[in-house]
Amino acid sequence: MRVVMVGTGYVGLVSGACFADFGHTVTCIDKDEGKIARLLDGVMPIYEPGLDALVARGVAEGRLFFASDGRAAIAQADAVFIAVGTPSRRGDGHADLSYVRAAAEEIAALVTGFTVVVTKSTVPVGTGDELEAMIKRVHPAADVAVVSNPEFLREGSAIEDFKRPDRVVVGLEDERARGVMAALYRPLSLGETPLMFTDRRTSELIKYAANAFLAMKITFINEIADLCEKVGADVGQVSKGIGLDKRIGPKFLHAGPGYGGSCFPKDTLALARTAVDAGSPLRLVETTAAVNAARKQGLADRVAAAMDGEVRGKTIAILGLTFKPNTDDMRDAPALDLVPALNAMGAHLRVFDPQAHEARQLLRGVAFEEGPYEAVAGADAVVILTEWDQFRALDLARVKDLVREPVMIDLRNVYRPEEMRALGFRYASIGRG
Ligand SMILES: NC(=O)c1ccc[n+]([C@@H]2O[C@H](COP(=O)([O-])OP(=O)(O)OC[C@H]3O[C@@H](n4cnc5c(N)ncnc54)[C@H](O)[C@@H]3O)[C@@H](O)[C@H]2O)c1
Repeated sequence: MRVVMVGTGYVGLVSGACFADFGHTVTCIDKDEGKIARLLDGVMPIYEPGLDALVARGVAEGRLFFASDGRAAIAQADAVFIAVGTPSRRGDGHADLSYVRAAAEEIAALVTGFTVVVTKSTVPVGTGDELEAMIKRVHPAADVAVVSNPEFLREGSAIEDFKRPDRVVVGLEDERARGVMAALYRPLSLGETPLMFTDRRTSELIKYAANAFLAMKITFINEIADLCEKVGADVGQVSKGIGLDKRIGPKFLHAGPGYGGSCFPKDTLALARTAVDAGSPLRLVETTAAVNAARKQGLADRVAAAMDGEVRGKTIAILGLTFKPNTDDMRDAPALDLVPALNAMGAHLRVFDPQAHEARQLLRGVAFEEGPYEAVAGADAVVILTEWDQFRALDLARVKDLVREPVMIDLRNVYRPEEMRALGFRYASIGRG
């Protein structure tokens, strides 16, 4: 199959490189010419484990191409994927579809022969209908089938997720697209990944419903964690105790600082908007988004409480800034709430993240350090904000020697309270009595 990815971000680049690895011929295009130039030089625009090797293999074997001008590739394509961003629209929380519409308009003018246009971007219910109408308007003779194929990969394990997903969802209205989509994902169906075909609107909603459910699950355990603190229970044990019930399952029950990232915050808001507009509000989802936002806004108070309420003039080390480990993505990361709030309270911040280049663009008034031990030197408190592996195995005796005050606020429950206390730390964590 000849495939084009319009948008070479997280999803477009990973999907494109994986499709090329499946044996298809893939051209990834992006309007960001600098990004394409770097990719042509073998420089990855994002940090994702294994991606550089996968891209290098696709390029070396002549199946993966990058271009800022997609005209020729689109004209020859069997399938053109739209993998551009759908951020929150400022003000109302709706998904901003301007990038998707612009991409569809460009594609419409260029397709020749029967072409499947696939929305891989997360788009609200009805977007496929809208794009189909738009393509027909721009290019009445275009022979296209617009298909929904939402992406479920997680940053940090994106390649594994793409190649071994729990399921692939395809929503279509034109049966001619079924064969093309089945051929694209053939290596997965051979591996017995369920390929679920449904109608386009249902497919669009599946993506939002999945993300909203996961966001709700995290928010649920976060609220249970707060209750644990009040009543002297251990949220880790509660998670285990409920997660062993197969109807509940153990995943996404890890209490923490509140979810961030490029998807859950914007997708919960967008789904809630869609539901209100449709006259069928989703109160659980609305509440989830509000509870999570308040949790992140309250992180600085949590830190201050662990420091006897006074952070002015104190030095605080923050370990981890990205919204989760193994990515450099800072979109809606809890650090974006915590750092400015602690700054405003008058704290001096020394921070370290193994992938800090995005964070450096976004966070002001902090000292970026070269490693965890440099960051904690002289600190009055250490905050673990992202559970990178290297923070799970700190030399705690060394940390204790380096800090001014042995106070640790572990927002990811990486360490055990009794061990930390035995080492002489004043240790605060989430939901553990
Ligand atoms: N990041 C994730 O983990 C993830 C997971 C599942 C689904 N999604 C969804 O996938 C979509 C893309 O997300 P992302 O994180 O990859 O976004 P991203 O911001 O990393 O990448 C989008 C890319 O599209 C490019 N672009 C925009 N308009 C273009 C155009 N007209 N032509 C060519 N290129 C264009 C941008 O320059 C950018 O490089 C979103 O809808 C998101 O919700 C993301």
